[in-house]
Amino acid sequence: MRDFNESNITGAVIKSFRETPNARLKQIMAGLADHLHRFVSEIELKPEEWAYAIEFLTRTGKMCSDKRQEFILLSDTLGVSMLVDALSHGALEGATASTVLGPFFVPGSPLLPHGADISRGLPGEPLFVDGRVTSVDGRPIAGAKVDVWQSDADGYYDVQRPDLDEATLRATFTTAADGCFNFWSIMPRYYPIPDDGPVGEMLKATGRHPNRPAHIHFKIDGRGFETLVTHIFDAESPYLDGDAVFGVKNCLIAEFSRELAGVGPCGKSMPKPWRRLSYDFGLKPQFVGVRTAKTASPDAV
Ligand code: BEZ
Ligand code: FE
Repeated sequence: MRDFNESNITGAVIKSFRETPNARLKQIMAGLADHLHRFVSEIELKPEEWAYAIEFLTRTGKMCSDKRQEFILLSDTLGVSMLVDALSHGALEGATASTVLGPFFVPGSPLLPHGADISRGLPGEPLFVDGRVTSVDGRPIAGAKVDVWQSDADGYYDVQRPDLDEATLRATFTTAADGCFNFWSIMPRYYPIPDDGPVGEMLKATGRHPNRPAHIHFKIDGRGFETLVTHIFDAESPYLDGDAVFGVKNCLIAEFSRELAGVGPCGKSMPKPWRRLSYDFGLKPQFVGVRTAKTASPDAV
């Protein structure tokens, strides 16, 4: 076929995928062409606007390295990360809700014993975190791997601080027979997502701020259970209603209680008041709550 115009090109592109051996790939490519063409037509995209978009995406790619993932940031700030997460991790009673992984997770954080202080002496308001990991029907999950990571009192992760060469404010714990784990830390602070690249340019150009409310990240792997990727947000933090990456859910907001000076958990002497977060995490059994995304049918190709 030749002589393509605005009326016949979409059908031709969709048809070009008809021999795709993988049915899911065929569905994805046809749906992408269909929606992308509709988008271009509906907003009557100008050549210079498309050229700008290509240049923007090129710069986004060039900003990616082993320390920075600008494409994930773009997906997060456009709400796509949360949408994909919502489609794959439906709500289930007793299960903790999930949210975005974010770009600051580092696999292989040091495995520390319960009661360890992950702040490694950084300044901040002391915080004790204790959690319990169970199945949705409340049975404790022993031996689950709990990865935690968080910002410091200035809102920076260790990977953003060239002065820190050891894992700080991040660690891995293993749950005990009763499903419990605990550690000492400092209060996390709200922070701006990295906004010195194309994503920051998009936020500025659209009048959006880059901030996320204060939170602690948890990634929990228990044998026979779906991996849970979530955060717990500080109920007193600013930006709970304006998270730049749309990651806040009410059920993930918790009080970080205020405790008096004295003898704290693990027999630790606390000369000043300190904070406490106690949270129970429910894991879904593997393969429950997975939904198929509603996308264009491959039969339409
Ligand atoms: C984070 O919480 O670490 C994060 C999530 C999405 C984008 C940027 C940061
Ligand atoms: Fe974070």
